[in-house]
Amino acid sequence: MNSDLRQTIEQLKQERNAIILAHNYQAPEIQELADLTGDSLELSRRAAATSARVIVFCGVHFMAETAAILNPEKTVLLPNPEAGCPMADMIGAADLREVRRRHPGVPIITYVNSSAAVKAESTICCTSANSIQVVASFPDAATVYMAPDQNLALYTARHTSKTILHWNGYCPIHHHLTAAMVVEQRQAHPEALFLAHPECLPEVIDLADVVRSTSGMIRFIQESDRQSFIIGTEQGILHPMRKLAPEKQFFPASAAMICPNMKKTRPRHVLTALQHLQPRITVPEDIRLRALNAVERMIAIG
Ligand code: 13P
Ligand code: SF4
Repeated sequence: MNSDLRQTIEQLKQERNAIILAHNYQAPEIQELADLTGDSLELSRRAAATSARVIVFCGVHFMAETAAILNPEKTVLLPNPEAGCPMADMIGAADLREVRRRHPGVPIITYVNSSAAVKAESTICCTSANSIQVVASFPDAATVYMAPDQNLALYTARHTSKTILHWNGYCPIHHHLTAAMVVEQRQAHPEALFLAHPECLPEVIDLADVVRSTSGMIRFIQESDRQSFIIGTEQGILHPMRKLAPEKQFFPASAAMICPNMKKTRPRHVLTALQHLQPRITVPEDIRLRALNAVERMIAIG
């Protein structure tokens, strides 16, 4: 990125009292611009704690919406408004109302990868970092319902005796990774550990040495005494991994694990967002309050 652009962004950030948050899947130049990078849970927490007046959320729509749910008095910007999430679009509020009608009394646990309107119909939210703890927070429920990601639900079901019913959504990027692709990478790099994201297919999870959220993976590769890793998640994560552990080797599980939506935000979008304080993400107050309840209940679990 040219240094003038970077300087202008820095200056505007000060003038606006803004903070730039970026998900671990963002393009390297966006991660370098950010005040904080992280997984969905860390970014939600940071959004809740910041004293900045403006939050520039470099991620996808549901992430900026979560920040807006937590910060109604702040200006939350999504630099490129076309950055959406196909998995979040796989379920609507009416779908979840129907689930509630069909399963009265069953806690509904909704992945943060969902719209505010869907969160508003939920008992509690979860992320890939805390889904097991969130399910465990319902000691009296024999059955819970998870939406929208079937793979996260099936992964979580391995760690509880409860019955987990689920919606059949999926992340196209993680769902695409097959066991055969992983076996091929394992044969090419027999010394490497295989790290999978909970959004991967069950047969891929079966092959994993370690299953973690994105930031969980980043911590793992730093703490591990192993030297090489096959990475079963979106390739944006290779940037922080290579920066934090330059002596180690990282192999993408599949060259196709690139989320086009996560790459839609460019530095010029961050600049114009700060200049015009647009595109702003807001949530209607009645939906926000109900969604807030589900998000805060999750954050309280830790
Ligand atoms: P985490 O960063 O929470 O692991 O989520 C991955 C993801 O798919 C975000 O879109
Ligand atoms: Fe959605 Fe998957 Fe892209 Fe994350 S990686 S934003 S879950 S499509």
